[in-house]
Amino acid sequence: MSRILVTSCKGGVGKSTVSIGVATALAAMGKRTLLIDFDLGNRSLDLMLGMQDDLIYDICDLTGGRADCASVVHLHPNHLNLAFIGAPFRYEGDATEESFASALDKLEETLGFDFILVDTSGGAHESVAISAPACDTALIVSSQTPTAIRAAEKSGILLDEKKVDEQYLIINGFDTQKENLAKRTGIIEMIDRTRTPLLGIIPMDARLSLLSEQGKSVFDGGKSNCRTAFTNIAKRLCGEHVPLMKGFSGIKRDTFLFR
Ligand SMILES: Nc1ncnc2c1ncn2[C@@H]1O[C@H](COP(=O)(O)OP(=O)(O)OP(=O)(O)O)[C@@H](O)[C@H]1O
Ligand SMILES: [Mg+2]
Repeated sequence: MSRILVTSCKGGVGKSTVSIGVATALAAMGKRTLLIDFDLGNRSLDLMLGMQDDLIYDICDLTGGRADCASVVHLHPNHLNLAFIGAPFRYEGDATEESFASALDKLEETLGFDFILVDTSGGAHESVAISAPACDTALIVSSQTPTAIRAAEKSGILLDEKKVDEQYLIINGFDTQKENLAKRTGIIEMIDRTRTPLLGIIPMDARLSLLSEQGKSVFDGGKSNCRTAFTNIAKRLCGEHVPLMKGFSGIKRDTFLFR
């Protein structure tokens, strides 16, 4: 059982995209996976998963004692093993570290998930402060831009303070164009700057946005490098040793940069 926070101190770096990609990959591998939208500023996963019509209760109804586990959890109609809990449309400011941790305990006890993923708000938002202490692992998402990398560094410091011991870097929206190699911050430099071990790299691919706008994940589309990249991350979370995909400029194929 693993509780995984998906975070970055910067908005728009792909936290929700990574949350859905990793959750659907774990579910496709047969792992019972729960994805929680804990973006308290602007809920989005219901739309990105095409489940906006399913939600009645949200995670804060569970933390606030207004609903039970069975009422807040929704099974995904197309992805076996994937369950979802939405964020409130308007957050009333009533969730606490204690109520969030207790909600995760109840969900584990009653429904027995292998993985719980928690997607958080961008910025140093209270959604991270409330949910991080209940998680054992964090995926820090960063693009290759200097502002995103600085935000990833800051996320690591906040997560240390919250005692989230296992922290991994996910590089999202990686530019695979050879001509841009010298202009972009490289993989090794990102690992060095964030002082965070790498768990995976998701290439930049406009199809991800298109699928998401239709309420679909990369696992609803055909084969793609993004799909392989998410599957590799899911395998690594399950303890498999998977080499980096080919095509990431500057790194030889079969290089292991992971735990
Ligand atoms: N690897 C990628 N390639 C291309 N586009 C991407 C990739 N990852 C994310 N995007 C797009 O970038 C935009 C922001 O992604 P997303 O909503 O996942 O970010 P976020 O960090 O969750 O944002 P917020 O902080 O607002 O919650 C979306 O349009 C998404 O489709
Ligand atoms: Mg988001």
